[in-house]
Amino acid sequence: MIRFDSDYLEGAHPKVLKKIVESNYEQTMGYGKDKYCDSAKEKIKKALKRDDVDIHFMVGGTQTNMTVISSALKSHEAVICANTAHIFVNETGAIESYGNRIITISNEEGKISSNSIEYLVLSHENSFLPEFSPKPKLVYITIPTECGTSYTKGEIEDIYNVCKKYNMYLYIDGARMAYGVDVKDSDISFCDIPNMCDAFYIGGTKCGALFGEAVVLVNEELKKDFRYHIKQHGALLAKGRLLGMQFDTLFTKDLYFRLGKQANEFALKIKNAAVEKGYPLLYNSFTNQQFIIFPNDKLEELEKKFTFWHWEKLSKDHTAVRICTSWATTEENVEKLINSL
Ligand SMILES: Cc1ncc(COP(=O)(O)O)c(C=O)c1O
Repeated sequence: MIRFDSDYLEGAHPKVLKKIVESNYEQTMGYGKDKYCDSAKEKIKKALKRDDVDIHFMVGGTQTNMTVISSALKSHEAVICANTAHIFVNETGAIESYGNRIITISNEEGKISSNSIEYLVLSHENSFLPEFSPKPKLVYITIPTECGTSYTKGEIEDIYNVCKKYNMYLYIDGARMAYGVDVKDSDISFCDIPNMCDAFYIGGTKCGALFGEAVVLVNEELKKDFRYHIKQHGALLAKGRLLGMQFDTLFTKDLYFRLGKQANEFALKIKNAAVEKGYPLLYNSFTNQQFIIFPNDKLEELEKKFTFWHWEKLSKDHTAVRICTSWATTEENVEKLINSL
């Protein structure tokens, strides 16, 4: 069986593993106070062209979202996000477990707009007793979105301007950042990101690391005491060097971005082949997640050899599936899928 259902189905890029194995018996300080974490932070700052950001490493996406968001908010403050957002749909109420409400707004192909955010904030501000409901304080978006689509720089700048106007934070979940920058339908480069938000994270788990996410804090208010928050959330890894080594490797010679680019190219090959064969798309994605609609009998035939994520049952005869490529996808497997289409 060849799996295309997600992008965390393999281990780690061989260079990442090599680095971990080579340093196995080396003794270092724990909790991220080692030379590998320092070096990784320097490389990330260089790629971002920003020396003034704080960087912290954590293990997984839910843990990262929960730690960043709950440490940024007081208990009466709320998060605004798309009704498809990962924190709302797929994180078991992790944010709410810290007392912060999630307020969802409608999305278009996974994207929310500055207008709908402003409308929501104004409805709250202008209500008879605003303090009777949680106060919007943080906007959560993803690069790329859960639908594989991309914001343009202008769209995120508009969202960030609304956030600043109403004294809210903008936080970007970059679980798939490697696949979400320098893509065909967006003008966003990696180094643009710290200039248009208060905090974000660079995903490692889905992008070539064995595990790990790198949080980048831009806003001074969020930097304060962040290590206390990490530790209190059980998110400060004792063997923190494992995270440093992985990001140090991924940010050497642009490996992170090369892996993302290759996965996107394979995904587009699959997308183009599907379109050529007449299969409609659920979303027009240019990143590593593709959403293709198949008649159920064709899907059944394909699933004798391949696995996909069943995304949405559209009718009794048609299903939309998610097909993911990753840093580890091979050309050979892409060709096999295309031939079977
Ligand atoms: C956009 C996004 N954020 C966060 C996560 C959560 O990551 P984890 O499963 O490591 O908690 C995922 C995982 O699928 C994701 O797609």
